[in-house]
Amino acid sequence: MCGIVGYVGERQAAPILLDGLGKLEYRGYDSAGIAVYDGEKIRMKKAKGRLKVLSELTHDGEIFPGQTGIGHTRWATHGEPSDVNAHPHFNADNSIVVVHNGIIENYLKLKKKLKEKGYEFVSDTDTEVIAHLLDHYYRGNPLQAIIKIMHRMEGSYALGIMFRDHPEELYAVRKDSPLIVGHTKDGCIIASDVPAVLKYTRDVYFIENEEIVRMKQDSMEFFNVDEESMEKESTHIDWDVDAAEKGGYEHFMLKEMYEQPKAISDTFSPRLKGKEIVIEELGMSDEDILSVKKMMIVACGSAYHAGVTGKYVLEGMARIPVEVDLASEYRYRDPLIEEGTLIIIISQSGETADSLAALRDSRSRGAKVLGIVNVVGSSIAREADNVMYTWAGPEIAVATTKAYSCQLIALYLLAMKFAQVRGTVTDGELERYIEDLKRIPDQVEMLLNNKNRIQKFANRYLAARDVFFIGRGIDYAISLEGSLKLKEISYIHSEAYAAGELKHGTISLIEEGTLVAAVLTQEKLYKKMISNMVEVRTRGAFVLAVTNEGNGDVKRAADYVIYIPETNQYFTNSLAIIPLQLFGYYISVGKGCDVDKPRNLAKSVTVE
Ligand code: AGP
Repeated sequence: MCGIVGYVGERQAAPILLDGLGKLEYRGYDSAGIAVYDGEKIRMKKAKGRLKVLSELTHDGEIFPGQTGIGHTRWATHGEPSDVNAHPHFNADNSIVVVHNGIIENYLKLKKKLKEKGYEFVSDTDTEVIAHLLDHYYRGNPLQAIIKIMHRMEGSYALGIMFRDHPEELYAVRKDSPLIVGHTKDGCIIASDVPAVLKYTRDVYFIENEEIVRMKQDSMEFFNVDEESMEKESTHIDWDVDAAEKGGYEHFMLKEMYEQPKAISDTFSPRLKGKEIVIEELGMSDEDILSVKKMMIVACGSAYHAGVTGKYVLEGMARIPVEVDLASEYRYRDPLIEEGTLIIIISQSGETADSLAALRDSRSRGAKVLGIVNVVGSSIAREADNVMYTWAGPEIAVATTKAYSCQLIALYLLAMKFAQVRGTVTDGELERYIEDLKRIPDQVEMLLNNKNRIQKFANRYLAARDVFFIGRGIDYAISLEGSLKLKEISYIHSEAYAAGELKHGTISLIEEGTLVAAVLTQEKLYKKMISNMVEVRTRGAFVLAVTNEGNGDVKRAADYVIYIPETNQYFTNSLAIIPLQLFGYYISVGKGCDVDKPRNLAKSVTVE
């Protein structure tokens, strides 16, 4: 997810581009760039880092005169954040320039063909292919060249395009990535999202798939792929910028919770090829996979909790021993790493100091390290032997939701791959797991739409002092994350326990009205969990249960039940965590806490 902007009009474009990009940094912030036609040629400036680096380099656009321009703020997917990989991208003679949000899935195939035709590439991006492809088909008519490349590109794109031969024109086109355009009082503006244009217009056109827009200072035309012009209705936007950045959601955390279905599908889709699990970036042959004797998962916070679930799934499905460790402990305990041990470092930001140190320590002991990371080009991603990206997109809220959910998906894929190669699952079982995986996005969507019931329940516990989460097996891992989500944004003391541990001490804390959240999604452990729930209830606890649809038994041991749709025993975490995320969120909202930026916390903990 990146942010693109474009402007053609009476005013200087560069300041408008930089201002618009500033409003889109929540979509990506690892590098940025602008290109402006200065009356003779198209000039471009791009830089790695936050937008302010580019603003300083261009003196807030003052040294970039010109009235037609495009700009981009990046969330790297193909090619690490760098000045060269930043957008915009030129063709060979700088006569065509492009900014892009999305992923060209067949870019390697197109790149190969273009190279055979003599094209040279300067970046590792999928986007540069578009500039050269346009160059290949351009015969003086921008519209026809754009239509030609649309027929050849697979994937998602929202593009801003300029042609030196047509300096007073700006082109935009979209497929599966958001794009809006609007008339300003002195020109036309394009952007990935509403926040970037609100200062200039409140009447925008939402561009549909495969629609092309040609803009001039005083005109805007819409075309379809048959080069036929079209009429479109504009929409009046009355949001303020803050609300718009959140896409109309009250907080980034809620917005990111609702982005989970897409993020989850973006994370597994590139790795499912029919009945095969294909994880190219693993860089491991079947022999390599068979030579792995043990795994050690090392991480912090929610990433560690995903690792705990990973242990249950990998050991259960692939029958491989897995240790899970807190990075801050692992880095100082002189770990014993035997031959054939694969170290897995999980991190959303890829910059967490303890996890990075654990990575370096492992490598210094000669171990192979796989990173499961969300931020492309981050330190852990760069320093790991191999990196498996979670395609959650930028996560702004400190409390992770979508990145955590994608870490679970990455671990499920790893378990399915190892199980397939080690022959610990039948083809039939693997097929069912693949079907179950594909159903998760819709099931998560359904659970999110159940939010009102959870909000009502949460509002009864705004004054809670202590909350306990209990579970067994994977449900204990779910409880760990559920408890962290509550305490980190609501400041209510909360602990998660392996349910069987309660009677060894903690149950002494249970008194009249204490809220206990019990997670029971593992059928073989239902009975055990129900007796633990009865234990706390008889001591006065109010029991909230999260369990599988059809588990009627739970009613006799719980005061409030939230059901999750049916899935296999290994994937329940992805569903059961949704009501717990919502519970933490609505308690935080109800208490008037700063949901997105909770006190004392940072999105990436880069210090020890
Ligand atoms: C989770 O909501 C917190 N933001 C925190 O526990 C986080 O998971 C931890 O700091 C690890 O961060 P990382 O995934 O970026 O390494």
